[in-house]
Amino acid sequence: MSRYAYVNGRYLRFCDAKVHIEDRGYQFGDGVYEVCEVRGGRLIDERRHLARLQHSLDELRIRTPMTPRALGVILREVVARNRVSYGNVYLQITRGASRRDHGFPPPDVPASLVVTARPLNLARNEALAASGIAVISVPDNRWDRVDIKTIGLLPNVLARQAALERGAREAWFVDKGGVVTEGASTNAWIVTAAGTLVTRPADHGILRGITRTVLLDVIKAKGLSLEERGFTLQEAYAANEAFVTAATQVVLPVVRIDGRAIGGGKPGPVATALRSEFHRFAEQS
Ligand code: PDD
Repeated sequence: MSRYAYVNGRYLRFCDAKVHIEDRGYQFGDGVYEVCEVRGGRLIDERRHLARLQHSLDELRIRTPMTPRALGVILREVVARNRVSYGNVYLQITRGASRRDHGFPPPDVPASLVVTARPLNLARNEALAASGIAVISVPDNRWDRVDIKTIGLLPNVLARQAALERGAREAWFVDKGGVVTEGASTNAWIVTAAGTLVTRPADHGILRGITRTVLLDVIKAKGLSLEERGFTLQEAYAANEAFVTAATQVVLPVVRIDGRAIGGGKPGPVATALRSEFHRFAEQS
């Protein structure tokens, strides 16, 4: 099946979709992005993703190229043209293409907008959730504004690659105080021996995950006990359960951390229940 992408006002065949070599995303990582889950051809939590996109654009002072409504039309069109029933849609906005210069380009340079969509294998993702994943820990060496969803992801790329090379699927960043911040592309959670869910508060030290936000609603509705605080790696090793959240995999159980089995090395009941409840609480559009 041929694929399509949206690039600066045009829907192009994937193989013809190109941006300029002096695009600031390419030269400086000067841009932001969002990833939305697609289910039954519908966008999951579009409104929240576009609100977070606006936060990222505002913090980096990138001019918004169009309204959230117009962006939504493009996201849906790319999903439809690629016939994605289950998968995700990716949106990237950079500060535009201009002669290389660290300072911002002249005000008439428009932001660049790229949207792609790709189908994923639902059965394979369910199988992954049923077996759980391994994570490794790495020092958090990122800048201090990781609440901005910037395309500058070099520490995340290196952390994920280190995980893959050690037979794990995700890396958890750990700050200088020994506290877990988040994963390379996920938020990190544990369930303590007392059954309390713990995840770090969404300050500037983590990305405020949309999946995380919705999951807080699920947790509240189910009357589960929750503490929004940092947890140490030692606490995670001793936890009953651990899991990660992200739009690409919703709730994904973690069964090994740095080679140590968590909760007997099998996905736990809390993570499994939260995964199955999630879409009852998420918005679909
Ligand atoms: N990543 N933390 C980081 C560093 C992330 O990159 C992501 C998402 C999350 C979870 O956010 P959300 O629940 O809104 O997806 C947390 C996307 C999926 C990615 O980079 O592919």
